[in-house]
Order: sequence, then structure tokens, then C-alpha cells
Amino acid sequence: MPRQAYVNGRYVPHGAAAVHIEDRGYQFADGVYEVVPVSRGRLIDEDPHLDRLERSLGELEIDMPMSRRALKLVCRQLMRRNRLSNGFLYMQVTRGVAPRDHKFPGAARPALVMTTRQMNPPSGQAVAEGVGVITIPDLRWKRCDIKSVSLLPNVLGKQSAITAGAYEAWMVDPEGRITEGTSTNAWIVTKDKELVTREASTSILNGITRLRLIDLLRQDGVTFTERPFTVEEARQAREAFLTSSTNFVMPVTRIDGEPIGNGHPGLVTSKLRDAYLQFVEGPEARA
Ligand code: PDD
Repeated sequence: MPRQAYVNGRYVPHGAAAVHIEDRGYQFADGVYEVVPVSRGRLIDEDPHLDRLERSLGELEIDMPMSRRALKLVCRQLMRRNRLSNGFLYMQVTRGVAPRDHKFPGAARPALVMTTRQMNPPSGQAVAEGVGVITIPDLRWKRCDIKSVSLLPNVLGKQSAITAGAYEAWMVDPEGRITEGTSTNAWIVTKDKELVTREASTSILNGITRLRLIDLLRQDGVTFTERPFTVEEARQAREAFLTSSTNFVMPVTRIDGEPIGNGHPGLVTSKLRDAYLQFVEGPEARA
């Protein structure tokens, strides 16, 4: 059976799935999304992802397209139809279909699309060697806490990383401090051994992987600080890594072409990666 997608109440072959040309997501990027990791056929941190979806929608005054219970049923049905074992589930909700006009339409109903993608976890080589990041100005709007489908600066940023032979671009605010990656959160272990990630605010997306790692750090009594850090601190760091639903915990070993620390993934990073992987394998991830 070919891979299927869910589009506004129907399961359709992925290749034939389509939305209306006047969907406001298409015309105005007037919508939000979630990427939920799937490991061994289970959604990881499903409720935190749905909490964030609900929050993003609330900030844009878009209704949930259906109850959480119904949403969970659709997720499971699509995963089952696609026999998804490892990878992720993508869900997108827009304000719906209406004649093009900036103001909120009176009658539009939120539109919901879901797809799944089978994907193996990041390659062993990337994890063993670590990846490179470049730094670029953060050109985004002032509500990066909303997981909006409006991702043009992120797309351009990621492409400039790829063009430069790097894996990710870390975006830098006007004060010279790193906000986050184009699709990941940024972490460093400073030269003074302080584990740092930027605090949640409207300047970053509060990653679910970030939040889970913070929870694991607290459980293990590991000290860390949530504060902005500069590009200079990152250059001089002993270790760095990034987190996201598709990368889990990924070591960063180069910044703007220069090695971080000794140029190899650090001990703290490896321990945190293991702790996160252990969480993914355990029962708590499905709670
Ligand atoms: N990106 N920051 C940004 C800008 C992101 O787009 C993402 C997620 C993250 C990490 O969030 P989480 O841990 O919840 O995945 C941080 C997803 C994976 C994407 O756009 O594909």
C-alpha cells in the first residue's frame, strides 16, 4: 500500500495529497506545525508536542482542528497505515481556506494535514565526529516562540550552512548572542565548564527535546544555566551540541570552520546524548 497522508478528514495517497490554492498556509504562512519523533513505532513526547501545538495556535487565535483525543487517534491511524517505525510525524494546522484577504476570515475552518516520514536516526558518522555550524545574523520576526510555518529565514540560513559545507547555522541576535539553530536549539559547555543554553523567550522556539533534556538534567542533579551566550563564548567553548526532534542530541565540533575544544565530541555531550537515547527507549517517552 502506498504511503498515505491525512488531509482534512481523509486519508489519501501521499503523492496525490493536495490542499486548496487559497489555503491561508499557502498564501500567508498563516499556520503552525509540529514534528513529533517516532521511535520503534511510538510517538516520543507526544503530549508536550500537542501542548506546544495548542499554544502556537492559541497565540494566532486559530482553533484546534479537533479534540486532542481525536488528534491522537488520527496520528495513530496514519502511523499504522504507513507502518511507521522510526522517523517522524509532521502535522500542520492553518487558519483554513478563504478568499485572499489579510484579515481573519469569518467562516474558515482550521485545516489539518499530517504526513509521516520513515527516517533512520542521524548517521553514526555525524554523531561520532560531530557536525559543523556557521553563524549568521538572525533575520526572523519577534515571535520565534510560535512554531509558525513561516520559515523563510530558517530555509535561507540552513542553505547557507549547506553551501558552506556545514550542517546547521546558528543565528545571532544584534547583541552578538546566539539565539538558536535554523531548526535546532543550541547548547555549549563553556571554557569554565558551565553547561549553557539560551532561556526560553520570544527569541527562540522552546524545543521539546530541549525541555526534555532539561528535565533529565534536573533529575540527575546536573547543573546548567539558561542564559544567552555570545559567538565568542561558543568559539572558546570546550563542547557544543544541538538538540531537536530529528537530531536528538548532536555534537557540534566546528564553528565557522574552526574546531570547538579539541575538535571531537565532548564527554558531557556524549553523556547527555546517551541519557536522551535512554529516555527515548524507556516507558516515560510514551507517557
Ligand atoms: N525543528 N528551533 C527551531 C527554530 C526549530 O525549528 C526546532 C524544531 C527546534 C527544536 O525543537 P524540537 O526539539 O521540539 O524539535 C528549535 C523541527 C524539527 C523542524 O522544523 O523540522
